[in-house]
Amino acid sequence: MNYPSQIETPSESHVYRYDYAKEVAIQQGKTFWFAEELGVQHDEDDLRTELTQAELEACVYLQSILNKYEDHLGDDVWGDVIPKRFPRREIVRACRAISYVESNSHAPFYKIFNEILHRATDDFYSSWRYDGHLYKHIRYVDQCSKHPDSLVVAAATCLLEGVNLFTVFGFFKSFNTRGFNMISHFVSGIDGSSKEEFEHAKFSAYLFNNCRKERTDLGNHSEEQEEGLKAIVLRMASDLYEHDIEIVRRIYAFEESTGTKIRTITQDELVSWLQDRINLVLGMLGYPPMFEKEKGVISKEFYANISSFKMSDFFANTQLQYVRDWAIERLTFNPEALHANT
Ligand SMILES: [Fe+2]
Ligand SMILES: [Fe+2]
Repeated sequence: MNYPSQIETPSESHVYRYDYAKEVAIQQGKTFWFAEELGVQHDEDDLRTELTQAELEACVYLQSILNKYEDHLGDDVWGDVIPKRFPRREIVRACRAISYVESNSHAPFYKIFNEILHRATDDFYSSWRYDGHLYKHIRYVDQCSKHPDSLVVAAATCLLEGVNLFTVFGFFKSFNTRGFNMISHFVSGIDGSSKEEFEHAKFSAYLFNNCRKERTDLGNHSEEQEEGLKAIVLRMASDLYEHDIEIVRRIYAFEESTGTKIRTITQDELVSWLQDRINLVLGMLGYPPMFEKEKGVISKEFYANISSFKMSDFFANTQLQYVRDWAIERLTFNPEALHANT
């Protein structure tokens, strides 16, 4: 065994060698938003009067797992495992910023939605434990994120941030696209969360790719080891894909149990979106796509809407059109503005 890779070696030095980690930390702070700012409570009428029973049940089902995802990512992954496995000061800094976002922005955001769904009880937050599939899924996610090989940990984080969360986002986002205009305050938070979770997925991939390269350069990652790693990552991707396929199947089972329809997105569209996300994340990790296919319709819609950050019609209710990097010394007085509305 040669020297361990630099990115895995503890350091008390604040001489940064991974500048992207600094960028991530700063960006998380600049775009930080409080869940309480969004006005999600104004969506309660839509939940009561606009959604079908199947759509409502599907929202509740997905909400039963979202706080668990956020707690796992905020506490266990970014708050504990990743900064220990990649113990460089700038990486720890980024991890702290990401953990803060998961616990202080995303988790309270889903909490507020649970409140207007009238499901915010102790039992509801533990209901995933009594759902055989969700329990198995969360146990698996937890095991992957504590794998002894830090490359596997980084890849598992990338998959959770970049795939599993986005299956849920694809469903929620459908309520405010393609002519639908329901639960718009909540969806504006989904837009904000989507951008951040994608940044978290990219940072996971950055850790994975840098660590693998450093190990390879040092002679610590042979072709055989790469084949083994690739097999583990592809297996994780396949398992997590199957877990989400079952989650999607359960969502659409509410159509039968309630006798109502999910109108905003079809099961095939959601599965196609999930496959696109798997392909995207595997590409970020340097692996070939799992599915030979053209991008589905949701991929095109989703990214178009997410990137249209300033389209006032789409984001009519959005509170997230700002960053927190203004400075009082840069403010100037514009006398013409005094007469702009007269
Ligand atoms: Fe999150
Ligand atoms: Fe995240």
